[in-house]
Amino acid sequence: MTVHPVPAEWARRAYVDAAGQAEKYRRSLEEPEAFWREETARIDWIRPWTQLGRCSFDEADFGIEWFADGTLNVSANCLDRHLAEHGETTAIIWEGDDPSQQRRITYRELHEDVCRFANVLKGLGAKKGDRITLYLPMIPEAAVAMLACARIGAIHSVVFGGFSPEALAGRIQDCDSRLVITADGGMRGGKLVPLKANVDAAVAHCPSVEAVLVVRHAGNAVTMQGGRDRWWQDERAAVSPDCQPEEMGAEDPLFILYTSGSTGKPKGVLHTSGGYLTWAAMTHHYVFDYRPGDIYWCAADIGWVTGHSYVVYGPLANGATVVMFEGVPNYPDHSRFWQIVDRHQVNIFYGAPTALRALMREGDEWVKRTSRSSLRLLGSVGEPINPEAWEWYWRVVGDGRCPIVDTWWQTETGGAMITPLPGATDLKPGSASLPFFGVAPQLVDAEGTVLPDEPGVAAEGNLCITRSWPGQMRTVYGDHERFFQTYFSTYKGKYFTGDGCRRDEDGYYWITGRVDDVINVSGHRMGTAEIESALVAHAKVAEAAVVGFPHDIKGQGIYAYVTTNAEVEPDEALRRELVQWVRTEIGPIATPDAIHFAPALPKTRSGKIMRRILRKIAEGDVSSLGDTSTLADPSVVDTLIATRAG
Ligand code: WTA
Repeated sequence: MTVHPVPAEWARRAYVDAAGQAEKYRRSLEEPEAFWREETARIDWIRPWTQLGRCSFDEADFGIEWFADGTLNVSANCLDRHLAEHGETTAIIWEGDDPSQQRRITYRELHEDVCRFANVLKGLGAKKGDRITLYLPMIPEAAVAMLACARIGAIHSVVFGGFSPEALAGRIQDCDSRLVITADGGMRGGKLVPLKANVDAAVAHCPSVEAVLVVRHAGNAVTMQGGRDRWWQDERAAVSPDCQPEEMGAEDPLFILYTSGSTGKPKGVLHTSGGYLTWAAMTHHYVFDYRPGDIYWCAADIGWVTGHSYVVYGPLANGATVVMFEGVPNYPDHSRFWQIVDRHQVNIFYGAPTALRALMREGDEWVKRTSRSSLRLLGSVGEPINPEAWEWYWRVVGDGRCPIVDTWWQTETGGAMITPLPGATDLKPGSASLPFFGVAPQLVDAEGTVLPDEPGVAAEGNLCITRSWPGQMRTVYGDHERFFQTYFSTYKGKYFTGDGCRRDEDGYYWITGRVDDVINVSGHRMGTAEIESALVAHAKVAEAAVVGFPHDIKGQGIYAYVTTNAEVEPDEALRRELVQWVRTEIGPIATPDAIHFAPALPKTRSGKIMRRILRKIAEGDVSSLGDTSTLADPSVVDTLIATRAG
């Protein structure tokens, strides 16, 4: 197997080399008090913390708290403290979907916008602890709105602009938002996303919503409802540019972000202030070896956790210059990413494997016609990166010059958890490599038996984390019991990630993908249960089972088995109708790749759907169906194999 050793120059000048990494890792676990005292010093505290943490994953005294008696304001950390020396530094370089559109915003300007935005929110009655839903395109105002919430102590819940009105409504209702912030529309690949119209449709089912603040951006026509809807640009002018940041406890909530799990509706993952910000800033610093003056670009949307931690909070806390891109990698053409790199002289680029695979398919020429000489470091996130895509990223995009940090983490973890450090870690394509400081991974088998962790001995099992870390989520909004049940009840006393993982002889971790009923489509997490309940909500559908299957570009595709009601004759028209139905119920990201009309689903005698078999059939791997002796009716499987959807 190929190993890419740390380049000598990186080992010399990065924040940590291999010896430093090992020593810091040891200290983080053995001397946590001293270690976190140093690391939390990168944040400005209003009142310094004295208690490190009170964390237990056991049912009897379950709870997670870090730095609990400290106080701070997250927006002040991302803005105010940079003003004295770096007020004129560019905070955000924005590039629109249309390549002719650019904006540059300094820290001073961003600070003023955030203060004004915060005052507008206050004027609309928002206060500490309120939940505010954001449904915005990738524009600077998205960061402004998030930071404005943080400034006044309101809890933001960002909903990805690709979700449908129905999905948006569910998320607004779950956290009882009184305020929604949106834009007239967003642009993606030359197409308008009618955000305001979607909000109108959603809010019709959300009696809690009293006000909608609309950013004028795309210029499309929208209906403004008197008494409820206001333009940000109009309100902006009418408020003061001064707004004192609210003093927040380290454990006061910062945001909620909905994510899909294996069961039920999406969970509101809740992150708090002090630990989360420390983790986001610290990982951004070490993992990307971020240096003042670097131009840093994370291509994730702010609707996902990567956008929260690595477009907004981590980099802005570190005073970085962040590139923010509204569009998509293949518009106007397949060179777009690398044109942006050249135009803004990007040094650090962080993106998702799915985009790389899509670009790789178009050929090297699109990349090679750009210079990319400014690039120093590349990153990958969101799904396993296959070695082929890794090597392409390394050789073609990075010209064999730039270390690649393959960062494994989750919405729940707040920031990177298993990741190379560019000056310290020899790289193995496809491996997220080693645990970050403070992270204690453990592999267990299905029964929960811990697999031995010894040098030279490989192991494969389910990935757990045995100790809390500051960036960890604190609860599921409104359902603390569900938090415990989902993550800490499968393996007692451990956080279970839901991922399968192999550890090789060198102690490197290789994430093998989800072992629960979550699928990862183009780096987007989808619960199969969510798609199933959307399908069965259709009048003609009796039953549905959704599984993932390997997909060249998306990583995983969505394969839906659908049993229609007895009187319905499934045909092509119904197939199209169901695809459209799921897009309306959840959003385009949940579009099924295949719908397989199944007269019946394989079930055990007790009525449980045998998903293992459904996965195999979807994968086209019917030679190894495993034990089928518990099937109530084995002929069901033969029918499914014979009618597999191509
Ligand atoms: C997967 C995204 C392999 C994993 C930050 C995890 C990865 C889920 C990687 C979380 C990676 C994320 N290698 N798999 N580098 N990064 N994953 O919550 O299955 O959207 O559990 O957070 O993505 O997805 P989420």
